[in-house]
Amino acid sequence: MRKPIIAGNWKMNNTARAGVALVEELKPLVKNANCEVVVCVPAIDIPAVSEAVKGSNIALGAQNVHFAPKGAYTGEISAEMLNEYGVKYVIIGHSERRQYFGETDETVNKRTLAALEAGLIPIVCIGESLEERETGKTEAVLAKQIKEGMKGIDDISKIVIAYEPVWAIGTGKTATAEQANETIGFIRKTCAEVFCPKCAEKVRIQYGGSMNAGNCKQLMAMPEIDGGLIGGASLKAHDFSEIANYDKGGMAGMKLSKELL
Ligand code: PGA
Repeated sequence: MRKPIIAGNWKMNNTARAGVALVEELKPLVKNANCEVVVCVPAIDIPAVSEAVKGSNIALGAQNVHFAPKGAYTGEISAEMLNEYGVKYVIIGHSERRQYFGETDETVNKRTLAALEAGLIPIVCIGESLEERETGKTEAVLAKQIKEGMKGIDDISKIVIAYEPVWAIGTGKTATAEQANETIGFIRKTCAEVFCPKCAEKVRIQYGGSMNAGNCKQLMAMPEIDGGLIGGASLKAHDFSEIANYDKGGMAGMKLSKELL
């Protein structure tokens, strides 16, 4: 069984004060959500937001973590620093970090292993560019990101994978539900080959890229899609709650792994 996970990625938005206000508005709106609800906030918002989410069903996430436990890495944040505030999840290798901050599969791998070691749950982002999709390279690109970025993970089901086609991020263009489902199916199959089939059935794989209140139900109805990583639509409490409540009434429930079907 895979418990769906809807995570907001605030990116570089919301001061600590604005973040707390957003979470306060969000709490009553998502309290009955039939999935795991997460907000991944800017590092400086973490102390205030960690207080604000206390006692609620909203888990706290960060947007990056360094691989060294401490030392001369100006501007970076260690896993221990995140742990002190009860951070549970950490986004690693978002395409914006790969594009603007020199993140590579190698650094993604180091950060992921360090996060796991420290007891954090990495949300590892992978995805192809428009050019790669149009030239038929999607599967090769994803397979490389999995093999190199996730190398050395003993149990792949300990992480969350976010499939985010770069061309769908912040553009208003979503992959169709079928496209996303097919690609996530490929990611799961690759995880089965590279790691182990049992862990691949258990690993939660999110879709990300212009997911919103209007398209979330269709995406979440797909058997391979276990959640969403939401950028723009996570900045408004109402919009984000609509996504987190995609399964109001509990019709969709847990995603069954193939073994149990
Ligand atoms: P978006 O961003 O929902 O604004 O497209 C998703 C992401 O980058 O995680």
